[in-house]
Amino acid sequence: MKDVFHQLAQLRQQLQQAAYEYFVLDAPTLPDAEYDRLMVALQQLEQAHPHLITPDSPTQRVGGAAQSAFATIQHTLPMLSLENLFTETDCLAFLQRLQTALQCEQPLMLCGELKLDGVAVSLRYEAGLLVQAATRGDGVTGEAITHNVRTIRAIPLRLQGDSLPEVLEVRGEIFMTEAGFAQLNAQAEQRGEKRFANPRNAAAGSLRQLDPAITARRPLTFLCYGLGSVQGGQLPTSHWGCLQQFKQWGLPVSDWSQRLCGAEAVLHYYQQISQQRFDLGFAIDGIVIKVDELGLQQQLGARARAPRWAAAYKFAAQEELTLLREVTFQVGRTGVITPVAQLEPVAVAGVWIRHATLHNADEINRLQIHQGDTVIVRRAGEVIPQVVSVIAERRPAGARAIRYPDHCPACHSGLERLPGKAAIRCCGGLICPAQRKESLKHFASRRALDIEGLGEQLIEQLVDQQLVQTAADLFRLSLEQLIPLARMGRRSAEKLLAALEKAKQTTFPRFLFALGIPLVGERTALHLANHFGSLAALQSADLQQLIAVPEVGEGVANHLDHFLQEPHNQKVLAELLSPEIGVRWPDPLVEDQIVDHPLKGQRFVLTGTLHSLTRQQAKERLLALGAEVSETLSRSTHWLVVGQQPGSKLAKAQRLNIPIVDEQALLNWFNSHPSEGNKHESR
Ligand code: IVH
Repeated sequence: MKDVFHQLAQLRQQLQQAAYEYFVLDAPTLPDAEYDRLMVALQQLEQAHPHLITPDSPTQRVGGAAQSAFATIQHTLPMLSLENLFTETDCLAFLQRLQTALQCEQPLMLCGELKLDGVAVSLRYEAGLLVQAATRGDGVTGEAITHNVRTIRAIPLRLQGDSLPEVLEVRGEIFMTEAGFAQLNAQAEQRGEKRFANPRNAAAGSLRQLDPAITARRPLTFLCYGLGSVQGGQLPTSHWGCLQQFKQWGLPVSDWSQRLCGAEAVLHYYQQISQQRFDLGFAIDGIVIKVDELGLQQQLGARARAPRWAAAYKFAAQEELTLLREVTFQVGRTGVITPVAQLEPVAVAGVWIRHATLHNADEINRLQIHQGDTVIVRRAGEVIPQVVSVIAERRPAGARAIRYPDHCPACHSGLERLPGKAAIRCCGGLICPAQRKESLKHFASRRALDIEGLGEQLIEQLVDQQLVQTAADLFRLSLEQLIPLARMGRRSAEKLLAALEKAKQTTFPRFLFALGIPLVGERTALHLANHFGSLAALQSADLQQLIAVPEVGEGVANHLDHFLQEPHNQKVLAELLSPEIGVRWPDPLVEDQIVDHPLKGQRFVLTGTLHSLTRQQAKERLLALGAEVSETLSRSTHWLVVGQQPGSKLAKAQRLNIPIVDEQALLNWFNSHPSEGNKHESR
């Protein structure tokens, strides 16, 4: 029994501390997933020992305590919380409970919404005028934040239209978009101020300003998702109907809400939103399922903290806690040194994470990270996992602080910090084996010379055994040298030599890109190839002539000049193009030979699998026709090319009214411009 006492006390203390940091300090230290787990553990323990429930237990209240700086107000109707569903089984059980409670055989009409990750507010309109805005507080008592809320442009100060109720309370979420958040943090950093941990905390912190002028400068927005108390006036009888009515009165509601009939539709909606969540531009942490008929909602009623007619089906957490084993320092192709956190493996949203980037020396300073620290790692969308923060309180005694090295970990050369940049670089250049390996990996990669079978591990071996120093050496490898290598053998060695032979026939832009000149990506390489037509012309260009190339600025020109003037590079280039090795490409276009660029200025995005060519080939041909090809869809995209099994971009394009073309239409375009389209064809 003493043990249970102890456990209960410990869980309550942890949860109280976390809630204090989250609600009062706006500086959370626990990931939400960990908070949820502790809360579930406490609930289960209290269920097993109900006589030990105390009135101040975190399970007994809805949210954080009201803060003193603002006037407290009583909510006319309590602002409830939502039951959390974490798995499909939870979700199906919830839906089944609804059917049973309503004794309903037919699938129930439901409403699916985004679970916005911001700050819940209640807005009170009297005769159409915004008279009060309040936070949720503990659900019964909140804080009046009217002055601050009045600065948010998404929130109408006066409702439009007629037949407005005398009193209308609506509930919704104030939040910050990711773009707004990034901008705010960039500004904070410039001023040397503290960064916000995430958009939700930034929104909460912005609403807690005593000076509304500060709130006004914060990029806050609002979406309305529910009803509070209403007096005098008629409202539709369904939740969906209310949302439409709100919209007509000028209140913003989400375009992502959907009416759903039955369990299958709910699961499908969950899938759909899970896939699109990172394209929304703002954070959500799940979906909310609501019974649509207000009459049925009333019939179902509420429990202490949450209604029975709604629940949140949460996404797998994006953040988890784990231990930092150590930090390694990786040297990239251009010598930039990136610290990488080696972690105790942890599953985040279904994927095991073992490493996370720590970006640069500034980030190491910001985090004040120590070996053995407990860290929060985050995986959002397709980005590389990040270390978000360190929980300093959990640091083992005597832990060693992580320091940025003062010499290159691969070649011990000195390091230099680029002016105005966070990056630190090894000065070793080509004597640095790490840089050599990375530039060879880049040279052989799919978008560069595309040398099939020449993977990372093989390159490591070739450099370590000093069989290869430069890109030219790759083409001098012999069967005898290759066969004894680990994981090789005669067949693979023969295949590799054939692949090397094949790679010699390339295109000028690919070749330029393969050289791995800093800042020279595929697009710049293409512009350079188009502009100069030949390597000799490029090599004899001065800085002024380089800057004359589209999209080549001073930075790119300097790197190019530096690279091309370097005697060692000149030697390697000459060797690659010599008859002995024989790298070659068809005569590229010279700018004045290009009759026109039929797709000039047209911005394309590709999604899904194409049949008759790869995405990369389609991209190259579009670029050759003067089009721009981007990975991200935005309002400024002109065309979306859709293949089989398109991703979430399709729905987004439909929403933004961006014209959609299929593979056939694309091929027709290429066929009507065969000359430009084919000149850059690479395979
Ligand atoms: S309805 C009685 N709808 O989730 C129902 N809440 O965990 C109460 N939230 O305090 C809320 N998106 O801050 C509702 N579409 C949505 C929501 C939503 C986010 C938040 C809200 C609420 C919390 C409950």
